[in-house]
Amino acid sequence: MDLSFTQDNDRRLRSLLDSYPTRQACLLPALQLAQEQFGYLSHEVMLLVAERLELSPASVFSTATFYTLFNKRPVGRHHIQVCGNVSCFLRGGDAVLAALEQELGIKAGQTTADGRFTLSVVQCLASCGTAPSLQVNDSTHEEMTGEKAVALVRKLREEKP
Ligand code: FES
Repeated sequence: MDLSFTQDNDRRLRSLLDSYPTRQACLLPALQLAQEQFGYLSHEVMLLVAERLELSPASVFSTATFYTLFNKRPVGRHHIQVCGNVSCFLRGGDAVLAALEQELGIKAGQTTADGRFTLSVVQCLASCGTAPSLQVNDSTHEEMTGEKAVALVRKLREEKP
């Protein structure tokens, strides 16, 4: 296998393995670490995690594909994940999604041609009380409106590549 963790991430992985009671229990943080390094969990990356944790590939694949927080294909620098679940929908989540699709010129599930933005619809982000919610990479944005979502995209565009 050509893929490997960087020295620093290899150290972090060994430290994770030392701090969890079982290798299975260490799987989620190991996948997070892998996604942090590789950007998404390709088939090869999941095999690498399986090998390092001495778990079956099936166990790693089933966990990685269950959680929407793990990207199974390349995403843009800003991965905007809009909650499509009921609380957010009832409070205008569909309007937030529509505003983002219009501003970005893409549909949910697509990435802008410049590779800067990926737009996805995901299930509950655990911010139902402050719906509608969305997440950009690791940060959650609550009580969104279409206007707020567009302003957020415009602010992100101003960031240096
Ligand atoms: S339903 Fe949207 S955060 Fe829970």
